[in-house]
Amino acid sequence: MSQPVDSCSSHLPVMVEEVIRYLNIQPGQTIVDGTLGGGGHSRALAHLVGNRGRVIGLDRDPSAIARAEQQLTGLPVLVAQASYCELPEILNEIKCQGVDGVLLDLGFSSDQLGDPDRGFSFSSDGPLDLRFDSTSGKPAWQLINQLSENHIADLIYEFGEERFSRRIARRIVAQRKSQPLHTARELAELVRSCVPRSKKSTIDAATRTFQALRIFVNDELGRLDKALRILPQCLLPGGTLAIISFHSLEDRKVKRAFREHAQLEIVTKKPVVPTTAERETNPRSRSAKLRVARRNVDDNKSVQSRTL
Ligand SMILES: C[S@@+](CC[C@H](N)C(=O)[O-])C[C@H]1O[C@@H](n2cnc3c(N)ncnc32)[C@H](O)[C@@H]1O
Repeated sequence: MSQPVDSCSSHLPVMVEEVIRYLNIQPGQTIVDGTLGGGGHSRALAHLVGNRGRVIGLDRDPSAIARAEQQLTGLPVLVAQASYCELPEILNEIKCQGVDGVLLDLGFSSDQLGDPDRGFSFSSDGPLDLRFDSTSGKPAWQLINQLSENHIADLIYEFGEERFSRRIARRIVAQRKSQPLHTARELAELVRSCVPRSKKSTIDAATRTFQALRIFVNDELGRLDKALRILPQCLLPGGTLAIISFHSLEDRKVKRAFREHAQLEIVTKKPVVPTTAERETNPRSRSAKLRVARRNVDDNKSVQSRTL
């Protein structure tokens, strides 16, 4: 049974001023917020585009959509439960030829972290689910009780860059023979028992394994790859693509795609990071990196100049 949604979001949007500045929002524009979350960015964008413009807000998570629908009433925001990869189909449906800007703020929200039934928090006694859209795919607890030891080790290594991935996978497989893992807390404790304490690191030893499982369960990198290929075509010439990432696997992909996509020009040579003040008030923002690119005003000219 689905839980009632708390209509107030606890998520603080990251680098709002920087996003607004780089998207250069004007009244009347159409802007896509591909990762609606708690609706913080959408709210700010909606005020700037005004009633002659609109924000198209997408999220895979049905509870984020339900919350946004309540919170953004009265603002020019069109909300839909969808992946940002489905933007071309959505634009087709609403007969929109192209948009002035697209924002992706990757990863998960504080609302998802705070929901004990989702398994995003290490201390949660709820099921280790980790899906953004819990109506599709399999929850993480089912996968770690089914996949082979090698598969688990490889995915923790690849998506978490965890040096102790083999040890963790061995322990998961040994543990599940007597008692299958079910909760986030159980997995976090198992991982901590496999990873030596580091004096240098301040992050929880379970962080990399949870990140890996979340990326795997939601096919986050596959969807990001697809988005980086198709989103430039959804922009009007001169339109802007702004992407906030939270770890190096995502940031590397964004950096590379912006460099290589024939329709894009890089706006931010180096990633933009939050101010010291923002990092202090919102610790979650610490690892955020914003990269911005613009669709060429004249695609043909730019494709030619790149091939010379
Ligand atoms: C960091 S939060 C966004 C927070 C939002 N910018 C705000 O101001 O509250 C990321 C959101 O992206 C959503 N998400 C992740 N992958 C997605 C995808 N492929 N398509 C659409 N939404 C996605 C998650 O469900 C989550 O709600």
